[in-house]
Formats: sequence, structure tokens, C-alpha cells
Amino acid sequence: MVKICCIGAGYVGGPTMAVIAFKCPTVEVAVVDISVPRITAWNSDKLPIYEPGLDEVVKKCRGKNLFFSNETEKHVAAADVVFVSVNTPTKTSGLGAGKAADLTYWESAARMIADVSKSSKIVVEKSTVPVKTAEAIEKILTHNSKGIKFQVLSNPEFLSEGTAITDLFNPDRVLIGGREETPGGLKAIQTLKDVYAHWVPHERIICTNLWSAELSKLAANAFLAQRISSVNSISALCEATGANVSQVSSAVGKDSRIGQKFLNASVGFGGSCFQKDILNLVYICECNGLPEVANYWRQVIKINDYQKSRFVNRIVSSMFNTVSGKKIGILGFSFKKDTGDTRETPAIDVCRGLLSDKAQLIIYDPQVPEAQMIKDLSTPKFDWDQPSQNIHIAEDAVKQSVKVVHDAYEAAKDAHAICILTEWDEFKSLDYQKIYNNMPKPAYMFDGRNVADVAKLRQIGFIVYSIGKPL
Ligand code: NAD
Ligand code: UGA
Repeated sequence: MVKICCIGAGYVGGPTMAVIAFKCPTVEVAVVDISVPRITAWNSDKLPIYEPGLDEVVKKCRGKNLFFSNETEKHVAAADVVFVSVNTPTKTSGLGAGKAADLTYWESAARMIADVSKSSKIVVEKSTVPVKTAEAIEKILTHNSKGIKFQVLSNPEFLSEGTAITDLFNPDRVLIGGREETPGGLKAIQTLKDVYAHWVPHERIICTNLWSAELSKLAANAFLAQRISSVNSISALCEATGANVSQVSSAVGKDSRIGQKFLNASVGFGGSCFQKDILNLVYICECNGLPEVANYWRQVIKINDYQKSRFVNRIVSSMFNTVSGKKIGILGFSFKKDTGDTRETPAIDVCRGLLSDKAQLIIYDPQVPEAQMIKDLSTPKFDWDQPSQNIHIAEDAVKQSVKVVHDAYEAAKDAHAICILTEWDEFKSLDYQKIYNNMPKPAYMFDGRNVADVAKLRQIGFIVYSIGKPL
């Protein structure tokens, strides 16, 4: 029986390991974390993350071949394969602050593996890391290894939050990078391949050298985010000319070389990874003497920031150039539907922009707890952020101007305007006539996700602004 241990029980470590345990009954999987509340939640009925389908998978395997534990060292020592799926956020200070990946957690995990290992191990980079990280990890492991052999593999994760379980069950590809030039490297690649081969078709398991695997992950996220910034930049031109961004993206996407997916104009992309990984790519390009390449990718972030501030400006300018004292109902706070994750959600920047113009916000999201929203809105952003996004509002002030409610109708009641900031399905089927009846007039709708039926809303009487649609 292969024994796997995964360090980091987060959005990636938890679901990924649960699916490995589910698909490979002969593999024993331990997921370990330094966070006691996180592990307690993984062992309870209320899992620490909301992800459709996750509960069922965890319940089927937990206690059989899937274990969640804070005993990190014990489980690492016993494992044949150690996945490292710790967070790799953007550095907040020192060299590369605001761009480079902070590998503190990764380094401490690697040192711990070297410290406690008494048998050979395969160490798998599951976290997204800068290209060439494996070289640094190999150094840490071999220089501290007491003669034990380690093989480092890169196996980046491509799941999206909200669809993690279906993505893991049916991945477009599984990427394994290793030392293909050595017999030990090839053997390690084969061991990991055998795990995925329990359910992933052979042709979808791609093996490459270490650096290609590491760089492919950063490149994939950069390409995906670049599509959103491309369509969002076109959405501004649509608004200026009377073109409709949905019609444009549909016509453009019909070209099979381009494709329809990931061309939805929005208030901006969020999530813990797109911005972080592109900044990381920018930094790596700069360090490799490639400023033109760095500037190319930096522009993807700039357009995303522009899109968020453009949305706020549109709201304020439409409502007679001030939202001071006006109630604005915010529908959705998470960075996309079907997740409670708020990391880098565009809702933070939009709400802060409105609060800085002294609006009163009534926020509803089906999955985000009130404490998380208040924390997100009052936590200072970092110095490197765009000045227009870098608004700091103290927690007391946030609490005075923000009310969190448990229903979309409550959020819209007596509001001068409603803003849709997350595309939750339930917002498509709301009774907008009822909502309109309970709002002062003129009643505004600012749809940052293009989920509302513009014609129907205008018929009801709303003044509607949708991203990239004729006004
Ligand atoms: P996360 O913050 O949800 O989870 C990371 C976990 O690691 C935390 O629970 C933390 O307590 C734990 N941890 C940190 N240092 C540790 C240590 N030394 N020992 C034990 N536990 C430790 O992060 P995440 O969203 O799961 O992302 C993890 C990595 O995967 C990142 O590099 C991210 O870029 C990448 N990734 C994320 C996604 C996603 O959808 N969230 C998708 C693909 C890749
Ligand atoms: C993204 C990638 O899609 C995953 O492949 C990758 O593994 C992951 O990042 C990661 O490395 O963390 P995720 O951030 O979970 O996944 O979610 P996405 O579906 O990519 O959405 C990201 C943001 O882009 C969301 O705010 C979403 O609303 C927005 N988006 C997405 C658009 O505005 N328009 C689109 O057409 C698609």
C-alpha cells in the first residue's frame, strides 16, 4: 500500500487528497496541517471549505484510507510520497515585495521533511511555485538529509474552486515534471503516474521536465486571466460604441482557434491565484532580464484593476455623482459562484470604492460569513496596490456603514441601487418586480456579472448598467 501524506489541508490539499483516497482504495492518504481549527473542521460534519460534491467524497473515505491530522511529523515520516500544498502568497516585504512568491511556508515544510525522514521519499510540489523552485527544494533536502534519497516532482494543480470535485474527477490533464534524465527521476514519475492512472486516462497524464511543469502552471493561469482582461478591455469599448460584449465574445469565440470558454466580461477576476501568479511571472521575467515580457503580463493586472474602478466610477457618476448616504444592496461577495472564498474578490475593491464615497452597503452572499466580509473590507491592502484600489477604512467605520443580511430581498429593500458582484444562480431567478417595488426611484441596477435580463429589468422600470452592454 502506497502511503501518501499531504502537507497543507487547504482549498487544494483537502479536495485533491480526498479524490485520490476515493479513487485509490489501496492508497492511504493523510492530510496534515499546522492549523488546529482547519483539521478539526475537516474531521467534523462542517468542512472548512464549501465545494459542491466534496462532503460526499470525504464522508466515503474519512477514517478508512483518508485521515486529517495535526501530527505533521508523524505522517510525513511514515509516507512514501509527500505532497506539499501549502500557501505561496505574494511577498509583502523585502526583496520582490508585491510580486515575488513568498516561499516561507514551502521552505519550512521542506526542512521539516528533511528533518523527520528516515526512509526515501518522493516530494511533490503541489503548490504553485516559481519556475526553478524544485532546484532550491532539492538543495534543502539533500543538504539536510542524513543520507536519505529524495526525488522532487512538480505536479501543479489545475482545479478551479466551485468545480473542484468535477475537475479532479475528470481533469483536462495531469502534469508531472521530474528528473527525466535519471533512472531515479523516471521511477518517481512512474510512481505518481500509477496513482493518477487509477482514474485518469493514460493520454491525459503528461510527463515533462521539472521546469516545464513549474512554468506551465504559471503560464496557464496567465493565459486564462489574459482572456478575461482581453474581453474586459473590449467591454469598455462596447460601452463607448453601442456594441454588446456578449455578442462580440460569442462571435469571436466561435472561431475554433479561440473557443467560447473564459470570455465572460465581468467586474474583474478575483481569486487567490490569478493576480498572485501573474505578479510572480512578472517578477521572474524581470529577474531573467526580460522587461518587455514582464510588462506584457503586468498589463493583464492593470486592465483588471481598471475594470473594477471603472465599475465603481460608473455607479457613482450614474447616481448624480454621489452615493453619500445612499443605500446600495450588494448581491454576492465571493470571487465566483459556488465558493465561499473571498480572496482577492472584486467585491472588496468595489465595496471599498463605494464606502470611500460614503455609501451605506447592505450585503448578501449565500456562503460568505459576516465576519469574513468585515475583515476583508477593513484589512489594509498593501502599498504596491493601485492607488485607486488602495483605500483603507477602519473596522469601526466599516461596521457603521455595512449591514450583512441573509437574503437578497432584504439587501435590496429600500436600496437606491443594487449591484450584482457574484454570479450566484439564485440571482437569475429573483422576483425583480418585487425588488423594484421596494426601492426608492429611480431604481438602479449595476450588474457586474451580466446575469440579469436587461430588457426585462428595463421593462420593470430599472435604470440598468451591465458590463459591456449598450446603455
Ligand atoms: P490554503 O491557504 O487554502 O491552504 C494552505 C494550507 O497550508 C493552510 O491550511 C496552512 O495552514 C497550511 N500550511 C502552511 N504552512 C504549513 C506547514 N509548514 N505545515 C503544515 N501546514 C502548513 O491554500 P490553497 O488555496 O489550498 O493553495 C495552496 C497552493 O495551491 C498555492 O500555491 C496555490 O497557488 C495553489 N493552487 C490553488 C488553487 C485554488 O483553487 N485555491 C488551485 C491551484 C493551485
Ligand atoms: C483558476 C483557474 O481556472 C484554475 O485552473 C487554477 O487551478 C486556479 O485558478 C489556481 O491556480 O488557483 P479559480 O481562481 O478557482 O481557478 O476560478 P476561475 O473559474 O478561474 O475564476 C477566476 C476569476 O475569474 C473569478 O473571479 C471569475 O468570476 C472570473 N472569470 C472567469 C471571469 O470574470 N470571466 C470568465 O470568463 C471566467
